[in-house]
Amino acid sequence: MREGHGNVIYRSDYQEPAFWIDSVDLCFDLDPQKTRVLNRMKVRRNPNVPPQALRLDGEELNLARVMVNGQGISFKIDGNALVLENVPSGTEAFDLEIFTTCSPAKNTSLSGIYTSNDSFFTQCEAEGFRRITYFLDRPDVMASYTVLIRADKRKYPVLLSNGNLVEQGELDDGRHFARWVDPFRKPSYLFALVAGQLVAREQRITSRAGNDHLLQVYVRPGDLDKTEHAMNSLMASVAWDEARFGLSLDLERFMIVATSDFNMGAMENKGLNIFNTKYVLASQATATDTDFNNIESVVGHEYFHNWTGNRITCRDWFQLSLKEGLTVFRDQEFSMDLAGEASARAVKRIEDVRVLRTAQFPEDAGPMAHPVRPDQYLEINNFYTVTIYEKGAEVVRMMQTLVGRDGFRKGMDLYFQRHDGSAVTCDDFAQAIADANPDSKLAQLLPQFKRWYSQAGTPRVKATASFDADAGIYSLTLTQSCPATPGQAEKEPFVIPVGLGLLSADGSELTQGMHVMTQASETLTFPGLQGAPVPSILRGFSAPVVLEFDYTDRQLLTLLAHDTDPFNRWEAGQRLALNRALAFIAQDGLNPSDIRLDAPYIEAIRTVLRHPTLDAAFKELALTLPAESYIGEQLDVVDPQRIHAVREAMREQIAQQLRADWEWAFETHKENGAYSPDSVSSGRRALAGMALSQLCLASRASSDPVWPGKALQRFKDASNMTDRFNALAALVTSGHELAAPALQRFHAMFKDEALVLDKWFALQAGAPDRGGHVLPIVRQLMSHPDFSIRNPNRARSVIFSYCSANPGGFHRADAAGYVFWADKVIELDSINPQVAARLARALDRWKKLAEPQRSAAREAIARVAAKPDLSNDVREVVTRALSD
Ligand code: TRP
Ligand code: ZN
Repeated sequence: MREGHGNVIYRSDYQEPAFWIDSVDLCFDLDPQKTRVLNRMKVRRNPNVPPQALRLDGEELNLARVMVNGQGISFKIDGNALVLENVPSGTEAFDLEIFTTCSPAKNTSLSGIYTSNDSFFTQCEAEGFRRITYFLDRPDVMASYTVLIRADKRKYPVLLSNGNLVEQGELDDGRHFARWVDPFRKPSYLFALVAGQLVAREQRITSRAGNDHLLQVYVRPGDLDKTEHAMNSLMASVAWDEARFGLSLDLERFMIVATSDFNMGAMENKGLNIFNTKYVLASQATATDTDFNNIESVVGHEYFHNWTGNRITCRDWFQLSLKEGLTVFRDQEFSMDLAGEASARAVKRIEDVRVLRTAQFPEDAGPMAHPVRPDQYLEINNFYTVTIYEKGAEVVRMMQTLVGRDGFRKGMDLYFQRHDGSAVTCDDFAQAIADANPDSKLAQLLPQFKRWYSQAGTPRVKATASFDADAGIYSLTLTQSCPATPGQAEKEPFVIPVGLGLLSADGSELTQGMHVMTQASETLTFPGLQGAPVPSILRGFSAPVVLEFDYTDRQLLTLLAHDTDPFNRWEAGQRLALNRALAFIAQDGLNPSDIRLDAPYIEAIRTVLRHPTLDAAFKELALTLPAESYIGEQLDVVDPQRIHAVREAMREQIAQQLRADWEWAFETHKENGAYSPDSVSSGRRALAGMALSQLCLASRASSDPVWPGKALQRFKDASNMTDRFNALAALVTSGHELAAPALQRFHAMFKDEALVLDKWFALQAGAPDRGGHVLPIVRQLMSHPDFSIRNPNRARSVIFSYCSANPGGFHRADAAGYVFWADKVIELDSINPQVAARLARALDRWKKLAEPQRSAAREAIARVAAKPDLSNDVREVVTRALSD
């Protein structure tokens, strides 16, 4: 049975807890079918709150016993709460003992305690601890934990929890025990327990501060050879946080454990981070450069949470971005600092902005739009979003821009001075950064700046320019506005830092600076100019806004060739491509196969590709056309199949017209020596991979077998997964007949490597659709013996790759994609509501669809919404999608 019809929670209803829990002593007798949990707490009334009953959260627990100060006590079950009306009055602490059982083996939601490959894992954020024991399961209740774990020694030789191992030993009947003590108080969402057959890579380190620490990465026995990169990333993270923020590791032992059944990327439990295997395991044979980079960021992200999230945590879940936005900002900075010189940093920045614009901007414009600090939710798990994470990180980045890098460090120092050890709000964070920089723009504009936390929607900055040739004065008028979002019709002006540069017509830089916009409309004037300049606006993507400016092609070509700001140089190329795509899409009666790209554009991208000094990684980004979803966001009415057809036709044109250049690019970038995932060689592999893909595409029209043959050879000979997978993808995406045998061979080679099989599934489910051929393949993949809908990584590799990452294949005119989607949302919801709700969001933007897709999508969503017994997770997503 499902708890089902919960209520909406409002930020404005926040109240301190009526009780505090000072300490928790947990004793686990682990058994997959029936795990026994004895929970002994010290509880006391919060004197700030009027006396009331103690209401503890609990879900799917079997309650056996409740005792207060060693005596039985009467209790009620009210929905999901355990209510104790008669706990002692007065503010003295009392002992509360609760004995419950639960069934980890039956827990398919992967929240609470569950089994995966015969090991036990926990996941408590946001509200999973209540599935382990009754508790005040909210982040402002911080307690000291001791944990005793008992389990069969042969089946579960390794027993882990937060903090320090203080005791271990043998018990009767082949069982053993371990006792862990966490020296830091923490909220329940940071609790963790792991038990199973695991092995660890270990590393002893000495910090700058001179303390010794043991770092461990635990995996299943066969996977130890894939943990070196994760360990290196962890060591780099420890060193970076000390160097950049003066924050040292505060534990003797720091553990990472990998599991293949996990709802998200990873979790920052104190001293015992639990990771999806995808973000731990890597070898050159099985992981791509992207995987290596993701591991570095996620290991960093979770490690950085130790200070931003764990030492200082969130008062309530509305403050989620306090830890997530800040920690994403920190992991982005970490990756940039490790990448090294300016152009590699810029590549990372472009990649981050691409995520923001292709995922967060649509979220901000759709039915699930919410502020960085939301005002309400039905299910908190639905708010682990790109808005909280990535837009939240942009808000922190703007603060750094406004106070400077050193000022930001001062602000962080003050934040820890004030709030270490407590549960605080986004306001507290912004206040600390401003107070440490009293003369900064941030301090002057703080109340207005904080609109970034309270107002949803992506602001638009419209720029218009004029040049007075006689006076030599250039005027740039910036006007901001923000579209209405659900529940927020009117918006006040934001504080928008606008990075600006002016170039002369021949491309030399005339001036540059940072303008901080605060009004709805402002005009900047630049005197003393010889001729009309080319403006480079929003350099470095200095604010998460849409910039509208009617650039001429000439101006964009100048920026693409000469801008000193690498972000805007890339952006100019994207605008050139986008303008062309939008024009082709709008041209009535234009058959995509008749598309002809103009010579100046082709020459400009040829120049980029052949450029003597630009990085390969930058070239690959600049030559990648804007994503279909990003193109769709620029349109009022979206025909996903037309967008797909136009973009594919453009890709094919570029492939053909630059054929000789692609050959040159492939030949000059294909050899990279011994594998290393560094930014230079990974950039070269990315460009070689793109070239190969373009050459296979160019061969399609002419049925020339040479390049598909070379791709197959490279696929076979490759010495690393990046080259091998790029070659395979080149065959699959060009629709060549050699793809089938290559796919077969790939499966045979990697049939025992779950993460590689995920790639194999994802490549096929996400392949460019030709006449509706992908959906039947997706159905076949789902009956493949290696498919399991219960494993989130595998479900994502097939179902999400099709529904969320393959718009051309998914948005079929016959609605079959939507029927499939609805069936899978419903099926997944009974297994794992968190994963189901993510899938449910694939149709967020249905209102923009052209007919017949629009009506068919609404019908599919309505069919899901009509199901009785939906989880809160899915119910919230589909009701919001249908509202208005
Ligand atoms: N706090 C985690 C992070 O960002 C993410 C997280 C939240 C999570 N809820 C989760 C991970 C549930 C797995 C399952 O680092
Ligand atoms: Zn996080």
